[in-house]
Amino acid sequence: MTEYQTIAASDTVLRDGTIKLHGDEAFEAMRRAGRLAAEILDEMVPLVQPGVTTQALDDVVRQMTLDGGAIPATLGYRGYAHSCCISINHVVCHGIPSDKVLKDGDIVNIDVTPLLDGWHGDSSRMYLVGDVPLKARRLVDVTHECLMIGIDQCKPGARLGDIGAAIQAHAEQHRYGVVREFCGHGLGRLFHDAPEVIHAARAGSGPELKPGMFFTIEPMINLGKPWVKMLSDGWTAVTRDKSLSAQFEHSIGITETGCEVFTLSPKGLDKPPY
Ligand code: MF3
Ligand code: CO
Ligand code: CO
Repeated sequence: MTEYQTIAASDTVLRDGTIKLHGDEAFEAMRRAGRLAAEILDEMVPLVQPGVTTQALDDVVRQMTLDGGAIPATLGYRGYAHSCCISINHVVCHGIPSDKVLKDGDIVNIDVTPLLDGWHGDSSRMYLVGDVPLKARRLVDVTHECLMIGIDQCKPGARLGDIGAAIQAHAEQHRYGVVREFCGHGLGRLFHDAPEVIHAARAGSGPELKPGMFFTIEPMINLGKPWVKMLSDGWTAVTRDKSLSAQFEHSIGITETGCEVFTLSPKGLDKPPY
């Protein structure tokens, strides 16, 4: 049985498996955190160029997060020592910023999570480095479509599984693989909370969506098979078959009539070409 818990914005919340239902004040706070996440991702657009290191991008994310009055939620999270995740080409997610240099033709995901006044924004976008082959650009386009088709399912009375069903159908139509090992997640005062938002699911399955739920949708879509492998650094996930992988992520809240996307770009830079 799914348990829901109505909470006030000021309540202390526990990771107790319940799905939290939030009110207006929490929506306001999530709008601010989500907007900062989007502004940071906007700022990355001109910086993602051949020759830049992923650590240099991470430095900008950290500085912008701090300037925005927030803290990167990843910094110190389970021993993670960076302000964002940067995942290149066949890296599925949780790529660690380093002295690695971006090169012409790369596709890159940057995932940021500002913690602002106690509330988490969580969003990622793909960036194209220089001239990217059509096959890779197509994967990036369809992955963004998968995210938005998932978001289209989000309204009170729908089921969580409707999101994954829609995403899976769209990805598999294009013969892409939907990664199963990583999910979207509830968030708010907590970074990772119930429910798990799976990106390949049966329509009509899972908990009912109710007004006040906050969660991310963050499909990882592979040009090849869905299988992933962890690298020995304990964080980096890559495709087993070395095929390219793409991901976009938004943080959303369920409203009375549908949903609100907290992390939309104020400049309309939600997907490439930028
Ligand atoms: N931002 C990621 C997510 O979407 C989580 C990154 S946790 C880290 O849930 F420690 F790997 F950075
Ligand atoms: Co997330
Ligand atoms: Co994220």
